[in-house]
Amino acid sequence: MALIRRAVPDDVPGIAAVVDDAFQEQIDQSYCRVLLSQRLNHVAVAVETSGEIAGFVSGFLTTDLEGLARWEVDLLAVRTTSRGQRLAPQLIEATWQDALEYQANYARGFVRLDNHASQNSFARAGYETDEQHYGLYIWSGYDMSVAPQLDKMAHVNLIPVETLTYRGLWIEGLDMPDLTDSQRKDLVMAAQHQITQDKRDNTGAMVLDHTIAEQLGGENVGVYQCWTKGW
Ligand SMILES: CC(C)(COP(=O)(O)OP(=O)(O)OC[C@H]1O[C@@H](n2cnc3c(N)ncnc32)[C@H](O)[C@@H]1OP(=O)(O)O)[C@@H](O)C(=O)NCCC(=O)NCCS
Repeated sequence: MALIRRAVPDDVPGIAAVVDDAFQEQIDQSYCRVLLSQRLNHVAVAVETSGEIAGFVSGFLTTDLEGLARWEVDLLAVRTTSRGQRLAPQLIEATWQDALEYQANYARGFVRLDNHASQNSFARAGYETDEQHYGLYIWSGYDMSVAPQLDKMAHVNLIPVETLTYRGLWIEGLDMPDLTDSQRKDLVMAAQHQITQDKRDNTGAMVLDHTIAEQLGGENVGVYQCWTKGW
């Protein structure tokens, strides 16, 4: 029987072991300690009676294009040997409690189209999907002498994110129909410029119109569905 509780900085090595097991990825442990201690990222862990961390979920607050407070369920993982015990739905419920504490209007998590175990976990935790297929596109940095101005673009947003696995900049509104091709190009270039300045790993966008991102040179790294609760 695992206990679900809020993570503290000393849980980071256990979280790192779960990330390694689930994603074969190494996290920057000292950076993750800072994220937890400064409450830039909020993690709930499932702890076995042995004291070992069996799984975790991470989340944080952003603001959507309508100005609503939104809770991002960012990373979810349970180690291979602890799967099938319904830890994931309990972890997703735990991050919803954080969302409520931070007065988020709703929570969302993007799940890969082929990840049925994760989809079922979100469904069990009371999340729903509109079943639309979002393409996740990423761009690397590009330094310009003068960054494009975005002030005339009402329905777009660049959101800096500090996650356990990367520091990024999310582009929101890239496929809004009221943008021109030239404005979209400026938006991506401004994001590329900003990540270079801020030394972030990448910039990315979830788009329903895949052609738009492909024309802008984005690299497709997966197809996702958006799961929401409280919406
Ligand atoms: C997705 C994930 C978090 C689910 O965690 P979990 O605690 O095992 O979730 P559950 O116990 O509710 O099981 C979910 C499903 O996985 C199945 N499953 C997958 N691997 C299993 C295993 N090794 N043992 C038992 N069941 C397993 C369960 O039977 C269940 O199927 P069902 O929904 O048809 O009943 C976990 O599989 C995982 O960490 N996967 C790798 C990382 C990942 O994909 N993260 C999500 C990114 S959004």
